[in-house]
Amino acid sequence: MKNFAITVSAIAMLAGTAHANPEAEVLHWWTSGGEAKSVAVLQQEFADNGGTWTDMPVAGGGGDAAMQALRARVLAGNAPTAVQLKGPAIQEWYEEGVLADISAVAEAEGWADVLPASIAGHMKCDGSWCAAPVNVHRVDWIWANADVLESNGIAMPNTWEEFNAAAEKLQAAGIIPLAHGGQAWQDATVFEAVALGILGPDGFRKAFVDLDEATLTSPEMVAVFDQMRTMRGFVDPNFPGRDWNLATAMVMNGEAAFQIMGDWAKGEFLAAGKAPGEDFLCASVPGDGFLYNVDSFAMFAVDGDDKQAGQALLAELIVGQNFQKVFNLNKGSIPARTDVSLDDFDSCANLSADDMAASNEGGSLLPSYAHGMALRGAQSGAITDVVTSHFNSDMSSEDAVAQLAAAVANSM
Ligand code: BGC
Repeated sequence: MKNFAITVSAIAMLAGTAHANPEAEVLHWWTSGGEAKSVAVLQQEFADNGGTWTDMPVAGGGGDAAMQALRARVLAGNAPTAVQLKGPAIQEWYEEGVLADISAVAEAEGWADVLPASIAGHMKCDGSWCAAPVNVHRVDWIWANADVLESNGIAMPNTWEEFNAAAEKLQAAGIIPLAHGGQAWQDATVFEAVALGILGPDGFRKAFVDLDEATLTSPEMVAVFDQMRTMRGFVDPNFPGRDWNLATAMVMNGEAAFQIMGDWAKGEFLAAGKAPGEDFLCASVPGDGFLYNVDSFAMFAVDGDDKQAGQALLAELIVGQNFQKVFNLNKGSIPARTDVSLDDFDSCANLSADDMAASNEGGSLLPSYAHGMALRGAQSGAITDVVTSHFNSDMSSEDAVAQLAAAVANSM
């Protein structure tokens, strides 16, 4: 079944460029310091290539507000030309018949030769290309203030027990152990990092990819919620509603020691002039595996040569080598393309690339559920609702797993 509303034809684009003036209205949620610096790279390249960019930023980490804005625009019959969209949400929009087919650009640019199969798979709808990948963010990271750890005689934790012991020591010294923002997606981000560590890669896959009921209600899942309850005690009282980048700032200024967050947090450290290994430290959370979160753009069906030329140009630039390098140096992620040298990238990015390759080999490269890579919206939303209501109440871990299984079953 062909669900594309239009085709962005590279041939039509090439024929049309003499006359068309590429333009694009771009919906995204990159509004923090590091994010804004990163998206400016795309705006500049688009302008350098004759494009006119209309910015539609919708603030709100994780993109929940941006996705609401998108739905309103599509329902009003006025979709933006290009949208930051990822994971199974791409296929969900495709099924509604509102995406443009960008296969002509992808084929002309040889995307299949330069993208790993795991990433390319997310960019395809019924075998055709329906999104352009920007990067690979890793979600399961711990960030730390280097001075705070050193002056308290603490090393980066290798187990959750070590993490808890370090946090208790820091708390006794008057430092907030864990910088956290109480927003549902941030609770989910910490939860999935803890879950990867405690369930292990196979358990994570069974729980958050296969939605296996036995795993969702297992004693190990109870232990995941127990650890979340412990983490709740390491957060300061002002955490509700705090934006993720303000939590990162608390680590930067030494008010807090750790943050568990994807490597867009590194984009904030870098934008503030902080250096990895000196000012801040990065390590994967205790346990094996790698949770990936690939940002991408989908083009929506729009009329007009200028807009369609804008979509083709954007798609081409996004997967282009230069953009993949410069954008990701700012964003904290690594390129989606496999042929971009990482020589200019820092130690955290190189660790990410090495770990991604090793987990791909070992079968522990896993899609992030909290960042919309593993599940459709109804299922991931059902899980996050339970995670956040547990974190923000005194719900027992046993009740949480029972609610988890019920919520998942109801969402199918
Ligand atoms: C996106 C990142 C973004 C982060 C915070 C994630 O879901 O993939 O690009 O920086 O949310 O907004």
